[in-house]
Amino acid sequence: MATRVPPDLPAWALLREHYREVSARHLRELFSTDPQRARDLTFEAAGWRVDISKHRITRETIGLLIQLAEESGLVARREAMFRGERINTTEYRPVLHIALRLPRSRSLIVGDQDVVPQVHQVLDRMADFATRVRLGAWKGFTGERIRNVVNIGIGGSDLGPAMVHEALQFYADPNLRVRFVSNVDGSDLTLALRDLDPAATLFVVCSKTFTTLETMTNARSARAWLISKLGSERAIARHFVAVSTNEAAVREFGIAPENMFVFWDWVGGRYSVDSAIGLSVMIAIGPEAFREFLAGFHAMDEHFRSTPLHRNVPVLLGLLGVWYVNFFGCQTWAVVPYDHCLRRLPAYLQQLVMESNGKSVTLQGEAVSYATAPVVWGEPGTNGQHSFFQLLHQGTVLVPCDFIGFCEPQSDLLHHHDLLIANMLAQAEALAFGRSAEEVAARGVAPGLVPHRTFLGNRPSTILMAPKLTPRSLGALIALYEHAVFTQGAIWNINSFDQWGVELGKELAERIAPELCTDQDVQHDASTTQWILYYRERRARERRGEKIPPRAH
Ligand code: F6P
Repeated sequence: MATRVPPDLPAWALLREHYREVSARHLRELFSTDPQRARDLTFEAAGWRVDISKHRITRETIGLLIQLAEESGLVARREAMFRGERINTTEYRPVLHIALRLPRSRSLIVGDQDVVPQVHQVLDRMADFATRVRLGAWKGFTGERIRNVVNIGIGGSDLGPAMVHEALQFYADPNLRVRFVSNVDGSDLTLALRDLDPAATLFVVCSKTFTTLETMTNARSARAWLISKLGSERAIARHFVAVSTNEAAVREFGIAPENMFVFWDWVGGRYSVDSAIGLSVMIAIGPEAFREFLAGFHAMDEHFRSTPLHRNVPVLLGLLGVWYVNFFGCQTWAVVPYDHCLRRLPAYLQQLVMESNGKSVTLQGEAVSYATAPVVWGEPGTNGQHSFFQLLHQGTVLVPCDFIGFCEPQSDLLHHHDLLIANMLAQAEALAFGRSAEEVAARGVAPGLVPHRTFLGNRPSTILMAPKLTPRSLGALIALYEHAVFTQGAIWNINSFDQWGVELGKELAERIAPELCTDQDVQHDASTTQWILYYRERRARERRGEKIPPRAH
């Protein structure tokens, strides 16, 4: 199959030309010459209001980006996903996270099966289990009710539930403590367990494959901890449940099928928080709120599927990413949620964006000649303002930002919320319009300080606001980003749904692990070999109880 090369598309050439003109213009001018700009470049989707007017674009830019989307076959690819075609071509799988949030009344036939009843069957089982835990009907081995839930997983089996649980804390049962353990560093599990009563602790082991080194290591240590504390292997049945696609491995671990919640290989890890991987979240917020969460996703799915491209918010956000990455040469994108409960959102989006689109070969396997995913990063506002915002305002790199906020506060400290949102709006305004040297001088600033206190502005940002952070608005927000990532993958002609780039490191770690603690021959490059031998010797001496002087090599 011939590779479709995005830079060869007519729209790409037009955008390159257009970039020359637009990049020379300032947002001040774009706003002053177009009084309707803010109104016309603000869109609605699934309860979200999204303002892209502070981007370095004109209406013509949007037209050309949409032409690019059309020439790239975005619509056909989107339809292929919604129909359940095997668009993940390197793993030969459909990509059907959208099925996880379809209402019960709908159907989606994949192969010869309707997947919607399967999805709802699992959701019903999750709801039953979550309700029993929440009501105290599900007892631990010694008859105690469950008061602690420890989710063990990594990547998509951790970041999604951890981020959503944090985001929806105000909806969570305050009598349940939910913790997330992901890192193979034993400190993670140790710190998570050190003040927990094993008799009141439930482990939810989440792993699509049920083979992931970190998760299986943590799960085995948790199992050993539980058995040592409760004195019987039979305790496992009351204290461990699994979420996975791999029933055989779950069984082998010792978790019975009735304590297992399944999902399917057509759900990618980073797209799985709305599957049974969200079980810990459902236990925390309850089945009803979880269904609201799914409804939010679904509302955004419908918007993505049926709204014309020029008003389609995920499409527009995805295209803006292409505009900055491929034409302005931006290599990073900041996400700044002005809601403390969304503080894990940047980490979640890092996996979503960078694992999906951090690719350098096309769907046809040829090297790309253009940039793909940017580095995504961020911190919640207002905290970020006191660390990296200096660079956003006056640094030498252009960093587009997403500012995310809500009209209604979650806490009772209402005046805090006004200050929070004032800061969000102020940052976007300052980035876009800056303060010129003349304006600075006019304020009486000493001439020597004028350059230091000047803000050039013209730095782009999106403002995304919803009435309130609720399960529904959060679901819609996640789906919005999922589809923006999809849009970019379609334009870049890459597979957004595999992640072969994580395999080599995993494989080498498996080889190195035994080399660190045995005398076996070590054959790596000189640097790696040196480190293995250094570590091996230090650990051996520690084990022998020898004192090691700090500078001995
Ligand atoms: O690191 C790669 C990855 O496969 C992610 O895509 C995935 O979310 C994570 O590992 C965890 O995988 P699993 O759910 O199979 O344990």
